[in-house]
Amino acid sequence: MGKSSKISGFYKLSPVERLKLVKDFSNLSKEDTEAIQSLSGLKVEDADRMIENVIGIMSVPLGIAVNFLINDKDYLIPMAIEEPSVIAAASNAARIARIGGGFQASNTGPVMIGQIQAVDIEDPYGGKMSILESKNTILKKANEQDPILVKFGGGAKDVSVDVLDSFIGPMVVTNLLVDCRDAMGANAVNTMAEAVAPLIEEITGGKVNLRIISNLASERLVRSKAIFPKEALGGEDVVVGVVAAYAFAAADPYRCATHNKGIMNGVSAVALATGQDTRALEAGAHSFAAISGEYLPLTTWEQNEKGDLVGTIEIPMAVGLIGGATAVHPVAKACKKILGIKSAVELGEVMASVGLAQNLAALRALSSDGIQKGHMKLHARNLAISAGAKGKVIDEVTTKMIEEQKVRFDRAKELVDEISGKS
Ligand code: MEV
Repeated sequence: MGKSSKISGFYKLSPVERLKLVKDFSNLSKEDTEAIQSLSGLKVEDADRMIENVIGIMSVPLGIAVNFLINDKDYLIPMAIEEPSVIAAASNAARIARIGGGFQASNTGPVMIGQIQAVDIEDPYGGKMSILESKNTILKKANEQDPILVKFGGGAKDVSVDVLDSFIGPMVVTNLLVDCRDAMGANAVNTMAEAVAPLIEEITGGKVNLRIISNLASERLVRSKAIFPKEALGGEDVVVGVVAAYAFAAADPYRCATHNKGIMNGVSAVALATGQDTRALEAGAHSFAAISGEYLPLTTWEQNEKGDLVGTIEIPMAVGLIGGATAVHPVAKACKKILGIKSAVELGEVMASVGLAQNLAALRALSSDGIQKGHMKLHARNLAISAGAKGKVIDEVTTKMIEEQKVRFDRAKELVDEISGKS
């Protein structure tokens, strides 16, 4: 039996103690833990090979969300994020989901779309038919570009064509559907799209303009569902409050943007920790949220016959385990080990589940106490530490400041001196 990710009091440990626990859970090597503990994990020489005009490294905190049970497997979730409360919120929601059996996740497979835009075609619908007739030739040309991907069962699998009406006239867009297996796929898809472009010109007599992957990864979806028992949530009122919060997001794009942003707090934090293209994921998520023509929540919330809360999420997840920063960044490599994931789709399922947990935590807090209370606690704790509190004194000073509603540095300092017997 694997180890459990249900760890109570994880937040009370020091970073070193937490890392020791994670190391044992995930069998991390000395290099992995050293990379995690170093200031950035990435050497400037390596960074200089990743992007242009490098002058240094920008670090963000890396934390671990605990309690996640997804498809009956325990996960510790690495999250890189500058925002407080996100990791605590995810861990707490995962603890409640666990009581209801954990997250059940699935996926549609790792298929990305490459778009080839052709213009100046006299007979766009005729052109469309000719492209479809030549499907096998197009797929063959595309697959010649990446024999390794094909060897692993991936590659270009299908072609579809859209005739679009635009303000410069009609255009014919060929969509190349590529199974990217464990790669995010941008390189493979863009190479294939560029390689088949001359064929499209030959077939249609038109002129190809763009040849590029679409970040609206509607063929690479992941789904997750969890039941949050009403007692564990804090009662029926909480269930009703969360459903009402969801109804608000479903009815109003202003609220929906923030609702989906909360989901992406979780998704993007895991993405950053594992070296993914966070911008591609954000673009995919928000465009998918608007795919019906209306901008809608990426999650749904409803009450089942027992009165428990049922949450679901469906979201595109263009993530990879090979290539790019995932392969070269030492901390990203260690984070993949912490997760113990075997495939890109498994990573996607984990990320969707984290997004769902994040959303539950936000809606639950917003429809009851509000989120400032949680933030205040963390702020008070940070103040206590900055004022010199150590060990048990941290909690004592934090609690006292919150009780008194005086969360300020001067009061923290007074309390530290008082409690440590210095005054
Ligand atoms: C803050 O980063 C995220 C929330 O605003 C999400 C939400 O409102 O659902 C709390």
